[in-house]
Amino acid sequence: MKKLSILLAMVITGFAFVSLTNRLNENPEFIAPSKQRTGDVAKGYQYLITGDYLKSGIPFNLFVLGTGKDTTNFLQRDGYNKSLNYSFTAVKAPNGVLVAAPNCLQCHGQVFDGKLIVGLGNSLSDFTLNRQGTALFAEKFLQNLKGEEAKKYDAAKNFIQAIKTVSPELITTTKGVNLADALAALLVSHRDPQTLRWSDKSSFTLPTEMIPTDVPAWWLLKKKNAMFYNGFGRGDFGRFLMGSNLLTVSDTAEAAEVDSHFNDVLAFINSIEAPKYPKPIDAAMAAQGKAVFSATCKKCHGSYGDSTSYPNLLIPESIIKTDSALYTANYSNPQMVIWFNNSWFSSGDHPAKLVPYRGYIAPPLDGVWITAPYLHNGSVPDLETLLNSKKRPKYWQRSFSSTVDYNYEIPGYKYQTKDAPGTSEVYNTTQKGYSNEGHYFGDKLSETQRRSVIEYL
Ligand code: HEC
Ligand code: HEC
Repeated sequence: MKKLSILLAMVITGFAFVSLTNRLNENPEFIAPSKQRTGDVAKGYQYLITGDYLKSGIPFNLFVLGTGKDTTNFLQRDGYNKSLNYSFTAVKAPNGVLVAAPNCLQCHGQVFDGKLIVGLGNSLSDFTLNRQGTALFAEKFLQNLKGEEAKKYDAAKNFIQAIKTVSPELITTTKGVNLADALAALLVSHRDPQTLRWSDKSSFTLPTEMIPTDVPAWWLLKKKNAMFYNGFGRGDFGRFLMGSNLLTVSDTAEAAEVDSHFNDVLAFINSIEAPKYPKPIDAAMAAQGKAVFSATCKKCHGSYGDSTSYPNLLIPESIIKTDSALYTANYSNPQMVIWFNNSWFSSGDHPAKLVPYRGYIAPPLDGVWITAPYLHNGSVPDLETLLNSKKRPKYWQRSFSSTVDYNYEIPGYKYQTKDAPGTSEVYNTTQKGYSNEGHYFGDKLSETQRRSVIEYL
């Protein structure tokens, strides 16, 4: 009898524990800071735009032959980099061959009104094409080179093997969204967690559906205690920043060398300020907006202007109600998280780790006028529709023209509402991962209050 009652007590306290943890998840959760390495801003910037964090790519002369010389030189780089688009860097492969390798600005830079903004998430990416054919073609071509020229194949090998493996899977129906999370998962499935060595066979399979994201602006990171939309990046940020190295890395000796520069890259990223809104602001309306913001938004997004604060909160699914596909994947397919937390990245004297959460971090809103489309999946075209969920278009199209089709009045993209899904330029919010639901906090405001908050932001 006694035994039974102890057992019963255990079961009951077990239940109480479960319901307690469930209840805790009804409230926003504070993210504690973790220790970061310090670094040198100028060195970090140089490494970012000229460094060899990828040591394999397309042989330089072949690349320039294929793409033509770029004459914009937005980054004012010299030497070989002068003739490359800002999103590629000329680097020496370990065998001395000069290659063009993609850099972080592929996804973390965008030309906006004729100016390159370093750190602005690229909302013009195109993941709708399968590049496997191009990679196979380049591979064939390079494999046929003889004599001294044969070294070119070796310099491109790591890059080509990764591209031809991931390309057929890394495809979405919609332009403008980013698949970096899926790319990371695919790459690690082909790498040993301890040695980081590549294997053509993947060690785990992943769902074929590709969950889309937008790309967060770099100038927000300095306020945040966790990285990524769902806040699951904890510990040493530099370790995450160097994640791109997984595309072509050969071994942990190379990874450690690359890692030794990412304290500087973090210092650079933390030095970036949000671009200022370039048009006139109605001061009276903005002051009104500030009051509304303080009453309705500040508790999650913090305060701006003279007294700045940022609460660093994770907002659970029960409150935020935005598309759940991104964080749910960490529970339904935890292989990526398990790989990472048992890998080279989570070892050593400045480890990083992934801590999944069912919800999203409430981001700082500095420079929010330029970061459309909104929400983690870029499903909402402008601030007006973000703050009035009934107005959000189910299918919407923007122009993707190089002269940005931006609306400064109601910050965001100019868009056309469509009746049905269409070409890859139409954002279809009925697809898995693309929903524009949730974040209903602006709905109860009046039209004037909403206008004033927009003016304030
Ligand atoms: C293929 C596109 C791509 C490339 C290349 C890329 N990133 Fe990212 N990056 C992303 C996306 C997408 C996210 C957001 C993912 C998420 O939160 O789920 C992200 C997130 C980040 C964040 C987190 C910001 C925050 O506030 O949470 C930082 C910092 C960052 N990347 C730095 C870098 C650096 C440095 C490089 C180059 C070494 C790089 N990235 C290369 C796409 C990319
Ligand atoms: C309960 C917390 C909470 C409140 C209150 C709140 N937000 Fe948010 N906000 C969030 C979270 C979490 C996200 C990210 C959601 C996602 O991406 O799925 C977000 C996203 C946003 C974004 C999109 C940022 C981007 O670049 O994509 C804007 C803009 C924004 N909020 C403005 C506001 C305004 C204005 C108010 C007040 C009317 C407000 N929020 C109230 C939690 C909150």
